[in-house]
Amino acid sequence: MADSRKVLRQQIRRQRRALSATEQKRHANQLCRRLKHQLWFRCARNIALYLPNDGEISPEPLIRLCWQLGKAVYLPVLHPIHHNRLWFLPYKPGSPMRLNSYGISEPKLLRTPKTPAWALDLIFLPLVAFDTRGRRLGMGGGYYDRTFSFKLQSKGIRGPKLIGLAHELQKVDCLATESWDVPLAGIATEAGIYRFSC
Ligand SMILES: Nc1ncnc2c1ncn2[C@@H]1O[C@H](COP(=O)(O)OP(=O)(O)OP(=O)(O)O)[C@@H](O)[C@H]1O
Ligand SMILES: [Mg+2]
Repeated sequence: MADSRKVLRQQIRRQRRALSATEQKRHANQLCRRLKHQLWFRCARNIALYLPNDGEISPEPLIRLCWQLGKAVYLPVLHPIHHNRLWFLPYKPGSPMRLNSYGISEPKLLRTPKTPAWALDLIFLPLVAFDTRGRRLGMGGGYYDRTFSFKLQSKGIRGPKLIGLAHELQKVDCLATESWDVPLAGIATEAGIYRFSC
């Protein structure tokens, strides 16, 4: 099981890294065009996205759109104390940035107020593979699963809507999941939006 997850991760990561810069740009723009008319996107005020790494689909056109629409944009930051969890920091044009231990750019931990994950309206998160039932395979660190584990535990807190972003080539027939994997409300690719019932 662990081995099959590992092999699948390697295979899909290789495929997405092989996309050309032109394909990447086209997918990012198509993704933004698909999402911008969604009611749940229009209504969300506090939105977390990510900066692309390892061939992930880029949410950068979407980030620019959020800024234009006056939405508050946040990026994930590795939590300095809580093991393998994420914090969300405001991200604006010109925000001071640093490289984290994975070489990914993240906002500097200044005296900015830290926003807990449950206080956001909408989170766009990256993934390595997905299936059409809303199951997600990430990079293997368990960061997103730990950060959003409250969604599995307490039915009381609805928390933010979780939407995975991916290239269509990351879709697989059926993903086996573990008890800790947090399901997604939807997945958006350059080719379409998949909606699930959570
Ligand atoms: N809520 C949790 N509490 C404790 N450990 C967890 C939790 N969620 C995941 N983990 C641990 O994290 C490790 C990686 O999990 P998994 O393979 O699902 O990562 P992933 O979903 O690919 O990564 P990510 O969430 O960063 O995208 C597993 O060994 C798992 O035991
Ligand atoms: Mg997982």
